[in-house]
Amino acid sequence: MSPVTDRKLLATVLGLRQERPPVWIMRQAGRYLPEYRETRKAAGGFLELCYTPELAVEVTLQPLRRFDLDAAILFSDILVIPDALGQKVRFEVGEGPLLEPLDAEGIDRLDKSRVLEHLAPVLETVRRLRAQLPDDKTLIGFCGAPWTVATYMLNGRGSPDQWTARRFALEQPEAFQRLMDILVEVSIDYLAAQLQAGADVVQIFESWALNLDDAAFARQVNEPNKRIVAGLRQRIPDAPVIGFPRGAAGNIAGYAAATGVNALGIDYAAPLDFVRNTLPKHLPVQGNLDPLRLVIGGAAMDNQVRAILAAFADRPHIFNLGHGIVPETPIAHVERLIELIKQG
Ligand code: CP3
Repeated sequence: MSPVTDRKLLATVLGLRQERPPVWIMRQAGRYLPEYRETRKAAGGFLELCYTPELAVEVTLQPLRRFDLDAAILFSDILVIPDALGQKVRFEVGEGPLLEPLDAEGIDRLDKSRVLEHLAPVLETVRRLRAQLPDDKTLIGFCGAPWTVATYMLNGRGSPDQWTARRFALEQPEAFQRLMDILVEVSIDYLAAQLQAGADVVQIFESWALNLDDAAFARQVNEPNKRIVAGLRQRIPDAPVIGFPRGAAGNIAGYAAATGVNALGIDYAAPLDFVRNTLPKHLPVQGNLDPLRLVIGGAAMDNQVRAILAAFADRPHIFNLGHGIVPETPIAHVERLIELIKQG
């Protein structure tokens, strides 16, 4: 392997500021790309795509063929974990993920003994990717954070306010804790396996770190994320981790300190001045363009890109969106975005 500094994105996660920030795009493999839609159709189902290394490698690499990105992110989904635990997951076109909602008895029926066996094809995808990627490209592995994954497991689908899961956590604290404990344990195994298979860095997606009061944030977000980082570092002492607590607002600094992540993903609603003034000066940040500005393009995009570059110019910064790219995004706007970041 080449020295760490050849992989600019990894180096930035490790705290080394780059002249121009490295860039990747959250959800960069996906429906805004015609070649993705084609491979997806050929695969049949979405999970078939995730569990077929040949196809998963292909869709992971598609965005890198078009754009000068600094990283590939493994093509998979955060919901392969409930699937591997035996809770059936379906992805219906236009509906998002659908699961059989879990109750307390369902939690006790989850089977953690076969998670890595079930996810072997995903780990094979990681191995093939590292073998095929150029040396200077960082390979990002990932999982969903326990709370975010639990919101889907308990409600059976996405919801705007995570009501079912927040209610379950308060009303059935012991069963809820059993679920968190299972998710923490299997997430450590899964992330460690991804790093061992060749991922350079892993990101923990806490996409629903919002709508939580102080005590709920501490228990449902900080604590499980901290346990994952600590558990991972017990196995792999220098494991590089990006945390992305979307919507954490006033909790971002507390999250970074409590969990010990190397770098912090910032959502687009976080004010730039607030981020600058709240986080430790040397903490690497990742973000945070509103995906809507990438859809609109023009000055609406360019001006905000420049503001983000300026706000984080004095610290390690990975340019990214503040949430996932959406299907209606014009490809030409993505090209323009990369050009702006690479050339200023
Ligand atoms: O390039 C990549 O980032 C691809 C890998 C990836 C996917 N999902 C593929 C995917 C990653 C890193 C994710 C993460 C993910 N999945 C998150 C966290 C990030 C975020 O957006 O907050 C969440 C919450 C999920 C759960 C999930 N998966 C939802 C809510 C949906 C449906 C809505 C949507 O965005 O499409 C999915 C499906 C999904 N995951 C698709 C893709 C490309 C679309 C499925 C299709 O092709 O029909």
